[in-house]
Amino acid sequence: MVGLARTICGVTFKSPVLTAAGPNVATKDHVLAAISGGAGGIVTKTISVSPAQDPRPTIRKGPLGSLINCETWSEKPVEDSLPIFNAIKEKGLPLIVSIGYKPQEVTFLGKLLERDVHPDIIEFSTHYVGHEISPLIDVAKILRDVVSVPIWMKISPNILDVQNLAKAASQFVDGFVAINSLGPVLDFDVEKPSPLLGSTFGQGWMSGPPILPIALRIVYETSISQPKPVIGVGGIEKGEDAIKFFMTGASLVQICSGALKKGSAIYGTVSQEIEEWLEKHGYSSIDDVQNKYIDAVKHLRH
Ligand SMILES: Cc1cc2nc3c(=O)[nH]c(=O)nc-3n(C[C@H](O)[C@H](O)[C@H](O)COP(=O)(O)O)c2cc1C
Repeated sequence: MVGLARTICGVTFKSPVLTAAGPNVATKDHVLAAISGGAGGIVTKTISVSPAQDPRPTIRKGPLGSLINCETWSEKPVEDSLPIFNAIKEKGLPLIVSIGYKPQEVTFLGKLLERDVHPDIIEFSTHYVGHEISPLIDVAKILRDVVSVPIWMKISPNILDVQNLAKAASQFVDGFVAINSLGPVLDFDVEKPSPLLGSTFGQGWMSGPPILPIALRIVYETSISQPKPVIGVGGIEKGEDAIKFFMTGASLVQICSGALKKGSAIYGTVSQEIEEWLEKHGYSSIDDVQNKYIDAVKHLRH
């Protein structure tokens, strides 16, 4: 009998497959569909102090099963997201609220969430905070000072020195989420030619299966350089994808694009496929495979 339940940062997840922040959790209906679809916890769409104004269209199909998008954070005022957070809490699922971006913004939002929402975990996105380590650490430090709940830092794939970022940030955060979407990228309609997205020249961020190997490398580097849990995200569409993330050190996984492409049942389907894979290979829990790749290549590290 395979058990999938995991307790990470003191929070128990019945399934290791969570939502990732994105349009898959944009509304209360989306969130309820994700819960019915078997998500083990809900990471909400990133909120910031003022609503985003995204150019249309915000999302299109890209090459190789990818999606490309120019969506930023939530277009709702913060108070409009509170009923979504409450709906998740009423359903009894772990609530991870995603916030961004600058120190003064996460300070305001962190205090508000602790006072009015009591999320299980706060995830903060570093997507628009730059590529250097020091401004990212500043955000981590200030959020650590103002909230008592566990905090997860979400890493963008453009960070060059993942290992030193992870080492430095692990003093302040309780976990890492890797990765956000990749870019900026460009694709367009070759016949016209015309942009696919409403951004300035059609540029956007890529997600889905083509970014999975980048996410695996970053999860691996984050896992080997510090002791806090890592949550893997990027291109997961089947159980075996998630197993690869566990083997490179992930404790949980998240899905965004897979749910946009295939519907909210994907969270439960991937969870079931993880269970089947473990059973077929004679394992009884995720613990049995977690870090297996890290251990397999240990002798190659200097
Ligand atoms: C349309 C779209 C909107 C997104 N919005 C957010 C967001 O608000 N905050 C965030 O941290 N990540 C956001 N992401 C990134 C996803 O959470 C995820 O990290 C990334 O897409 C890789 O996972 P996937 O391949 O399963 O989509 C967004 C992704 C997409 C496709």
